[in-house]
Amino acid sequence: MGTNTIDTRGLDGPLPRPEELYLALVKKALTFGLWKDEPGLPIAALNDSRPFLKRRAVDLVSNVLDRAGLELATRSRRTETDRQEGTFWPRYAHTMIGEKRLDNIQRCVERVLEDKVPGDLLEAGVWRGGACIFMAAVLAAHGVTDRRVFVADSFQGLPPPDAKKYPQDAGDPHHEREYLRVSRSEVEENFRRYGLLSDQVVFLQGWFSETMPAAPIDRLAVLRVDGDMYGSTMDVLVNMYPKLAPGGFCVIDDYALPGCRRATDDFRRVNGISVGLTQIDRTGVFWRNDA
Ligand SMILES: C[S@@+](CC[C@H](N)C(=O)[O-])C[C@H]1O[C@@H](n2cnc3c(N)ncnc32)[C@H](O)[C@@H]1O
Repeated sequence: MGTNTIDTRGLDGPLPRPEELYLALVKKALTFGLWKDEPGLPIAALNDSRPFLKRRAVDLVSNVLDRAGLELATRSRRTETDRQEGTFWPRYAHTMIGEKRLDNIQRCVERVLEDKVPGDLLEAGVWRGGACIFMAAVLAAHGVTDRRVFVADSFQGLPPPDAKKYPQDAGDPHHEREYLRVSRSEVEENFRRYGLLSDQVVFLQGWFSETMPAAPIDRLAVLRVDGDMYGSTMDVLVNMYPKLAPGGFCVIDDYALPGCRRATDDFRRVNGISVGLTQIDRTGVFWRNDA
């Protein structure tokens, strides 16, 4: 796992199993790793993070070019390591989490299947849906039809900070990021492209503070938290962690972000979770519920 080519050790040794080859290919497709280089973003894409005057200038230039059917884009300076580690917001890839964190999803799901840990799989914070598509792919590869994949998102980006409830989020700019807004229909379409939209996939649409307490979930085997902010992380952990089966995995995608890290640390401290965190890459961590 984890290079820019698919492992062909089967040519010299035992043949790789079809499910291994399938999952390796899905990971490459989800991260745009089959092509030499993913192009950079159009300069208009992240305009909301620029100062006012620069933003106006970029808007002006982009509009003029757009009318002529042209766009100005940065040339991609991403390396294979960047793709592996998911260190950037990609133009076309269906996930921004990189291949290492997809490898981690595969290990977690395969481990709960092997150990017969009961429960469904959930990701809270899905963007274009790639990590959830991969969860569904792992289930499909192993012929599992009695577990569901919950796909939880507002499908309209992050909420403005609620500084009264979560002062830790005061001033957080994530909600201004247009690029993080992906509609439910686009995510459904992405599932369809991989042939993985089925009754096993359940969408939970809305803010986590509302969808998590009401989610029709009894037990989870894998809980993946990818909501970037303190409040988003906390709303998911408070409502979903009690449903994580013993032996299940809790994965925190954004532990490198200060708000998410604080929420995770606070939640673990208050709930007496002492099992250590395992680092996945520069950004993500996970632990196994040893309760
Ligand atoms: C960084 S993106 C997730 C990346 C994704 N896991 C992937 O595989 O590329 C964060 C997502 O969390 C969602 N989100 C964050 N906080 C939320 C909240 N409180 N309620 C609902 N959705 C939220 C955003 O809409 C966005 O789609």
